[in-house]
Amino acid sequence: MRKKILAANWKMNLTQAQAEAWLQEFKSLFSLVEQQELRIYPSAIYLKEVYAFEFHAGAQNFYFETEGAFTGELSLAQLQSIGVSSVLVGHSERRHLFHENTALIQDKVKACARAQMPFVLCCGESSSERERGQHLAYIEAQLKAALQDFKAEQYSLLTVAYEPIWAIGSGLSASVEQITEMHLFIRHFLEMQLGPNAHKIPFLYGGSVSFENAADIFSCPSVDGALVGGASLDPQHFYQLWQALSA
Ligand code: PGA
Repeated sequence: MRKKILAANWKMNLTQAQAEAWLQEFKSLFSLVEQQELRIYPSAIYLKEVYAFEFHAGAQNFYFETEGAFTGELSLAQLQSIGVSSVLVGHSERRHLFHENTALIQDKVKACARAQMPFVLCCGESSSERERGQHLAYIEAQLKAALQDFKAEQYSLLTVAYEPIWAIGSGLSASVEQITEMHLFIRHFLEMQLGPNAHKIPFLYGGSVSFENAADIFSCPSVDGALVGGASLDPQHFYQLWQALSA
């Protein structure tokens, strides 16, 4: 059975005092659920604190080189040295706002493989690709490019997050049918690329997940969890999602 994962992507939100208050409040609500993993992807400056609270600390970003003259960047070795357990790769905000192209995403995937760093590979189409009926082909191209050099035996490092761009932060989540169609398509693609172990790779959904739609989304058999932006900023709300995932 695949583990279930609920991941908070705080993006560029929360001050030090707010992050601390979040962690304290969530810790008081939180109880572990077997077969279920909770992850927090804060701004890098709070990673040590998330780790100190004994939560899974994940990095929103990193650079693929191991060390050197790369002002402002963080390496996987540095992140591992402070207790970071996973990273995000290919989030649409990094692809579009920070111009992360295919070559960079490939280098990041290769760096994760080298460093044995688990990663969440994000993929998602824009509304125009969906309107043109090209969403499946678009996601296939994204995944094919990102995983070009990824070896089948490294499958356990990989989690996939399907996050349609039009659903991120818009309040308009994808429907259960749209998520299921895409997840089945991705599963088939990964089975062709990586072989039978692909069925063990967890699949998340991301894009306007909230308490109102979580029960529906988590009832999809293809959904192993969610990557949550806006609704993760309130610890009470996020805890409701944690409970919905275990229901
Ligand atoms: P959202 O963000 O939940 O605010 O839509 C999801 C994400 O970008 O990971």
